[in-house]
Amino acid sequence: MDKIFTKNEIIDLLENDSKNDWLFKIADKVRRENVGDEVHLRGLIEFSNICKCSCKYCGLRSENKNLERYRMSKEEILSCAENAVKLGYKTIVLQSGEDVFYSVEKLCEIIREIKKFDVALTLSIGEKTYEEYSALKEAGADRYLLRIETTDKNLYKKMHPNMNFENRVACLYNLKTLGYEVGTGCLVGLPEQTFDSLAEDILFFKDLNADMIGIGPFIPNQNTPLSEAKGGDFWLALKVMAITRIMLPDINIPATTAMETLNPNGRLIALQSGANVVMPNVTSVQYRAKYEIYPNKICINDSPDKCRSCIEGKIKSIGRTISKNYGFHKI
Ligand code: SAM
Ligand code: SF4
Ligand code: FES
Repeated sequence: MDKIFTKNEIIDLLENDSKNDWLFKIADKVRRENVGDEVHLRGLIEFSNICKCSCKYCGLRSENKNLERYRMSKEEILSCAENAVKLGYKTIVLQSGEDVFYSVEKLCEIIREIKKFDVALTLSIGEKTYEEYSALKEAGADRYLLRIETTDKNLYKKMHPNMNFENRVACLYNLKTLGYEVGTGCLVGLPEQTFDSLAEDILFFKDLNADMIGIGPFIPNQNTPLSEAKGGDFWLALKVMAITRIMLPDINIPATTAMETLNPNGRLIALQSGANVVMPNVTSVQYRAKYEIYPNKICINDSPDKCRSCIEGKIKSIGRTISKNYGFHKI
């Protein structure tokens, strides 16, 4: 049976470092018993850094004038996807800012072409209407990543001018209704975020019965209003991830890029503390540095081939294997 921590138990684990080793060990055991030793690789294409939103923490926010913007053409996106398939990826993730240039029609065309490569397809392109999500699903999208970021409504409001917490939650439930595998998650270390609100985040993941949860430490970006913020702690983010694994034993949990940005062994530590997924970048090198959500992002000068062999070596070094399957939550 799933181990369900109470809210107070979660807060205690987050506040206190004395049980960290125990927590990471149990999360690793739960991961092994429920999803095995295979690591699923998802090839990430960051196809546009243009965004109409103003999330206070993000370097892609529309107000940031210190960022050279780009949009990849359909042909460029398909070429990245084809290359990823050649490198053995069984899932392609299309991620961007909220960029209205890509109409639902354009996106559907791209989705249909990518699905011809016999891969699972994940979208991470922000909030859309029920009808839009429905059309994208119809075109072949299998999964959707939309982090709730924080379940603390006051903090959500402060972090997301012109956005609405209730709408974000509604988007997640709409995606579920439409049959997507739904991924969500939170940022750890936002200004004024409390242990209480992180515990609520984890309980929200459980309530939603998510298929995938991505946890990332918040990393301050100099070109945002939060440039002077303290930023998230690697170990606290790892704890949130480990507790999530124990609470939702068989879901997919990525070892996130932001974790590796804060700790040079971050992804391997995460894979040994509950994670079973890695999302290497398969975007062509010319665009990588421009998708600057936060500073010092890893792999910005590396090619897709380099990242593929790098991550394979790392995964094998801890005795794990790379999955040859699509890596769905529900088989
Ligand atoms: N625009 C889409 C969205 O927001 O869902 C997808 C792209 S967005 C760049 C992907 C994720 O980046 C967000 O969900 C957020 O958690 C994360 N992110 C943004 N700024 C960050 C920062 N400064 N540090 C760490 N993660 C950040
Ligand atoms: Fe845009 Fe997503 Fe960044 Fe918010 S987090 S500014 S929606 S890219
Ligand atoms: Fe990109 Fe290691 S994953 S260089």
